Amino acid sequence: MSQLHVINHPMVQHKLTIMRDKETGSKDFRELLKEIALLMGYEVTRDVPLEDVEIETPICKTMAKRVSGRKLAIVPILRAGMGMVDGLLNLVPVARVGHIGLYRNEETHNPVVYYCKLPEDIQDRLVIVTDPMLATGGSACDALTMLKERGCTNIRLMCLVGAPEGIERVRQAHPDVDIYLAAVDDHLNENAYIVPGLGDAGDRIFGTK
Ligand code: PRP
Ligand code: URA
Repeated sequence: MSQLHVINHPMVQHKLTIMRDKETGSKDFRELLKEIALLMGYEVTRDVPLEDVEIETPICKTMAKRVSGRKLAIVPILRAGMGMVDGLLNLVPVARVGHIGLYRNEETHNPVVYYCKLPEDIQDRLVIVTDPMLATGGSACDALTMLKERGCTNIRLMCLVGAPEGIERVRQAHPDVDIYLAAVDDHLNENAYIVPGLGDAGDRIFGTK
């Protein structure tokens, strides 16, 4: 079974509280999401392998560590997942970025695919899928399936807020994918919104409502 990592670092929790506040505007919301993504990125990449390399400091030659092995890809689920990309790119500037476009049908709440563009060698990379909201889990499950159909075998899901229903659905459908969250919220409401949540993440990032 996959592991659920809840990043309860005080700075992450503090920033998330400001994001939840309905008075927080798009500019601050975006900046906070980017900052949290970078902080969560430390945990998501905690076990990437290192190798020894010889370098020369201004003082002498020495052996030092650098990241080795698998390269990284960041795959946001459009739109809201885009808000987490820059924070992760600050941490791993050489990562490649793919995009999966999904939106939830407002009546059925089922995800609809409208775009998919991924790095050519995505199957050789550690893939971090980003989406701030894990509600029913439908969007995340479909995105993970699309990546597996393209040969990806090492995938992590990084969200901000998750509902128990969505977490359970992803864990059942994709037991090989670890999930990283800043908070596990209480439940979904009748419109499949997370309670207490933070509202519609896409609208709050892009100011569309
Ligand atoms: C939101 C969110 C997730 C999805 C989560 O996107 O960013 O992708 O809903 O819900 P689920 O777990 O029930 O699938 P939305 O469909 O509103 O699209 P948007 O990002 O373009 O606004
Ligand atoms: N999508 C969002 O943006 N927010 C929710 O609470 C659920 C789905």
